[in-house]
Amino acid sequence: MDSLIEQTDKFSNTGKQMLIGLHLGNGYGSQPGAWRMPGVDPKSYTSFDARVKQAQAAERGKFQFIFLPDGPGAIMADIETESPTFNLDVMLALAAVARETEYIGLVATGSTTFNEPFNLARQFKALDVMSHGRSGWNAITSSGEDVAANYGRRIPSSEDRYGRAHEAIQLIQSLWGSWGKEAWVHDQESGHFAKEDQIVPINIQGKFVGSRGPLYIPPSEQGQPIIFHAGGSPNAHKLAGRFANAVIGAAFTIEDARAQRNAFREAAKRYGRDPDEIKYIPGLMTTIAKDRRTALDRRIQLTEHLFPQRVAYLQQMLGIPLDYARLNEPLSNEQLGAARPYPYDPRSSNALKIAKEGWSLKDILAHGVIDYHPVIVGPGIEAADHMQEWFEAGAADGFWISPDVNADGIDAFVDEVVPILQERGLFHQDYEGKTLRKHLGVPDQYGIDPRV
Ligand SMILES: Cc1cc2nc3c(=O)[nH]c(=O)nc-3n(C[C@H](O)[C@H](O)[C@H](O)COP(=O)(O)O)c2cc1C
Repeated sequence: MDSLIEQTDKFSNTGKQMLIGLHLGNGYGSQPGAWRMPGVDPKSYTSFDARVKQAQAAERGKFQFIFLPDGPGAIMADIETESPTFNLDVMLALAAVARETEYIGLVATGSTTFNEPFNLARQFKALDVMSHGRSGWNAITSSGEDVAANYGRRIPSSEDRYGRAHEAIQLIQSLWGSWGKEAWVHDQESGHFAKEDQIVPINIQGKFVGSRGPLYIPPSEQGQPIIFHAGGSPNAHKLAGRFANAVIGAAFTIEDARAQRNAFREAAKRYGRDPDEIKYIPGLMTTIAKDRRTALDRRIQLTEHLFPQRVAYLQQMLGIPLDYARLNEPLSNEQLGAARPYPYDPRSSNALKIAKEGWSLKDILAHGVIDYHPVIVGPGIEAADHMQEWFEAGAADGFWISPDVNADGIDAFVDEVVPILQERGLFHQDYEGKTLRKHLGVPDQYGIDPRV
């Protein structure tokens, strides 16, 4: 029976502190026009130095991790005018960052659908050793046909994708554990390099993947990398509930985020794990400036070229015709009276709420009502309030932040939002340790988890 106490326990975040991650993609930031902004190196797409600098900015703000999404491939909106969204290569980017930072966790997506598990096991554990225990693997199943096409394949059924993912993660964790914790002797005096009997093949052959092993990589300072997951289907809940310690999420409302967080926690419980071992981390996009007007103007500068198509989409969200020629005017009382939020887009109610506040059509769009996470366009305190509200409502264990423009948007968050969260006791003052496991507060694990 779900007693009231248990219900409260599901959501409660009392006495805890939130986690913060930074989204690092193409090097420019999350807004389409970021590459053209003043002060931005237009060649950041190929600059590993830019990634390093941005990760260092996040480390200055004590962020627990950076997160590099990946296809693998490239999401391309319009290569004539926009940068692709992803890194050139996530593992090379993280290797560069690992050498120039000391604390921040290094998390990247690695597809279980299109990679051989042995390759993933080797790359992520090598990164873990290189970074002294800071690596995390976002173990996802691929769902885009554009990605599949890069491998000359089609996207398999959900059943097959998740079947392979379950096998791949178990196999990879087995490979990670195949070099025994105490196997490495490296004693120059005696000439004993390693204990052969503690470095053993895994000999796993499943329906989808297999490997003999062992993997010739000793443990890192955190043992082995941490598993992340991203996805929202029941299959995703199950996979994450079984293996993940963190979930990269996307939710537009507290209610939705709470439901998602709870679904992952319940799934973890079903595998005999403590629900607190899995952290739900939804996204937040930011344009931080001294006041709302300045922030809106910055957003207009970034995205104005997209307004024609966005006005067209906003019409659908609000269910009323909109006049592009009246971009600088608020919606009329008549329009507002007739507007109805489009039920199939969870962002529609927020768009209507902003419209009813009397902002011009241009400013409504500049609030980011058509972006892919909740958006803060304003002073730092507004971001801090949002994060506190969601965190205390049990809707999030933390947030992954997508600044509009990385070149100055990460610093703006670090200088204007982090101190408020720290003052309120909601975010740590300093790193608790030097490994990602310590930052996330997840239990030690080496090899597979015998409980699942
Ligand atoms: C917040 C979030 C981040 C994601 N990041 C990635 C990513 O970096 N790479 C990728 O291929 N898929 C990514 N996905 C997609 C999921 O892994 C998955 O393919 C998709 O949600 C469909 O899953 P389903 O088959 O369980 O419905 C992400 C999904 C979410 C919600």
